[in-house]
Amino acid sequence: MADTKILSISPANPDLRIIQYAVEVLRSGGLVAFPTETVYGLGADVLNLAAVRAVFATKGRPSDNPLIVHVAPNIKLDEIVDEMPEKGQFLIDSFWPGPVTLVVKKTILISDLVSANLDTVAVRMPKSNVALALINGLGEAMVGPSANLSGRPSPTTAQHVYDDLRGKVDVILDAGPTEIGLESTVIDVTVEPPAILRKGGLHQESIERVIGAVQLGTGDLQRRSPGTQHRHYAPRAKVILIPYEHDSGFAEQLRIHRQQGKLVGCIVNSPQLVKLEAGESFRVLPSSIPIFARYLFRTFRELDALGVDVILVEGVPEDGIGAAVMDRLRRAAQG
Ligand code: TXA
Ligand code: MG
Repeated sequence: MADTKILSISPANPDLRIIQYAVEVLRSGGLVAFPTETVYGLGADVLNLAAVRAVFATKGRPSDNPLIVHVAPNIKLDEIVDEMPEKGQFLIDSFWPGPVTLVVKKTILISDLVSANLDTVAVRMPKSNVALALINGLGEAMVGPSANLSGRPSPTTAQHVYDDLRGKVDVILDAGPTEIGLESTVIDVTVEPPAILRKGGLHQESIERVIGAVQLGTGDLQRRSPGTQHRHYAPRAKVILIPYEHDSGFAEQLRIHRQQGKLVGCIVNSPQLVKLEAGESFRVLPSSIPIFARYLFRTFRELDALGVDVILVEGVPEDGIGAAVMDRLRRAAQG
């Protein structure tokens, strides 16, 4: 591949000539990074197996980690989904387009490559006029894992995609920073009660209002979502997670790492926690949790770019999207 083209496109009214160009790239087996409401995705025609293989190779993604299939209103869902449980249909009617991905039984049109040999497929309709126009234009569903190198934080800007995948994707459609900043919620509706396999943009509370109680995928259920096993969402620096408003714990960690001569980055939402010292880098994210979520991955990447050794991050209260934020922070801190 010669070069990666970044094309600016209006999120509200995408220029159809740009969409048509990107559709041609997809038709010829190319890769197009596209915006969604959650994070940027790495798109390829779901029926083009060479392109799907290139998606795995480009991300350095293990082949046992299945891809999400993205659809738009003009894609026939019954060509992809063998069986849509009633609760799945309720979720679709309530939340699509939006940040919830359903795991359902797949049809034979979905290759084992896409589903990593599972008999299910993860499917979602993103809330982005650019993504929907692209899929509608292609006339086929599009695979779309997050457009980062495997293991890195998901990209929330076109620049993040470029930083990770420069020279390896044909086109990046740049519609500005993404709204939610964390990935979609993945829910398996083939089991009863349905199981949340990955917390994300759609809160458990909202899901339960529509379909009643859900379970949290653990053990065997969790193993069915291999992406949640691999190390994920982590910056290069070591991440230390400190409980919400645990001022003395924060101060203690800061002191220890300063003493060791480490370059420390801090992400907090309680500004009283930190006093700026030379050489250190502080990011105070808004105490509004949705905004904290929107800027979290971007901040990981910024601190990495500054070359910090350690990132101390203050947790957030665990309701609404706070649950997904804490999930990502715990994973990052495991690394
Ligand atoms: O918000 C999102 O979901 C973004 C945007 C681009 O749409 N996409 C995304 O895709 O995060 P990816 O591939 O990075 O994460 C997909 C997750 C992985 O954890 C994977 O293991 C899980 O979904 N998954 C995919 N297919 C599955 C299946 N059939 N059964 C269980 N889990 C599945
Ligand atoms: Mg991902």
